[in-house]
Amino acid sequence: MSDALKANPAARYQVSGTITADLNYIRPDAAMTPEVIYSGGAAPQAYNDAYKFMAAEITDARRDPSKFTIHAQGFELVTSPTRNKNFDDDEIIKGTYYDEIADIVRDTTGAGEVFVFDHTVRRGQKNSVRKPAHHVHNDYTSNTGITRAQEAIGAQAFEKMKGRRMIQINVWRALNPIVQRSPLAYCDSATIQPDDLIPTKIHFTDNDHIGEIFALRKAAGQKWYYFSEMIHDEAVLIKGYDTDTDKVARFTPHTAFEYPDQDPAAAPRESIETRTFAFF
Ligand code: OGA
Ligand code: FE
Repeated sequence: MSDALKANPAARYQVSGTITADLNYIRPDAAMTPEVIYSGGAAPQAYNDAYKFMAAEITDARRDPSKFTIHAQGFELVTSPTRNKNFDDDEIIKGTYYDEIADIVRDTTGAGEVFVFDHTVRRGQKNSVRKPAHHVHNDYTSNTGITRAQEAIGAQAFEKMKGRRMIQINVWRALNPIVQRSPLAYCDSATIQPDDLIPTKIHFTDNDHIGEIFALRKAAGQKWYYFSEMIHDEAVLIKGYDTDTDKVARFTPHTAFEYPDQDPAAAPRESIETRTFAFF
């Protein structure tokens, strides 16, 4: 990146308008329990017949990023360069990078205590085991928000936090200098109804673990956004759970999608999402 752009990265953006892309939702008439299957091999994620790609309008939130906040819409863009240079070594990531993530979550959400517990590196290249996830989902459900927290931070630490409001936040960052394909779209949490969220099995066949996430049934009123051309110095926070049931944003469906006019020569998307629970 040139020095001029480093000083003012926003100067580069050609803010796009609204685009139409196919998102992988639950069929309106699906009777079976939806299931996502991760083989653990190089094959992409697979989905049972409850899923169906349907067109959605997705608006570029760069028009006015300040309108999108973690507790109202469930997602928020921050500029926060990382000092970490190595995203191939899990132990290195768990060092400084996890500390930086805890700071980002504290600063953006107002939480007092942050536990960073897991991360996933995704690479769009053919032979990669974890690729961009093309299914509309929220990473936790009303049940697994709590059970995952107990497991992730340990029963003792969890017990100590008893009575405090808890949120789950993912921090997503591109590993490419600029995202040119398979960006993430976020559904404004304030535009979904509780009935639109469908409990879904997520099956990891390599260790035979079955988790539970939410999928989304497409409904009128749901509004989708993305941030065009995200750079490595930026991150998006996504809220996956909130114990405060009065808060507008408790679950924030999101998915990778493909541009309708994708340049086939563009580099596959690479990214890291880091998972946290935070307490007020
Ligand atoms: C996430 C997520 C999917 C992707 O960060 O929770 O679902 O394609 N990411 O990066
Ligand atoms: Fe997710």
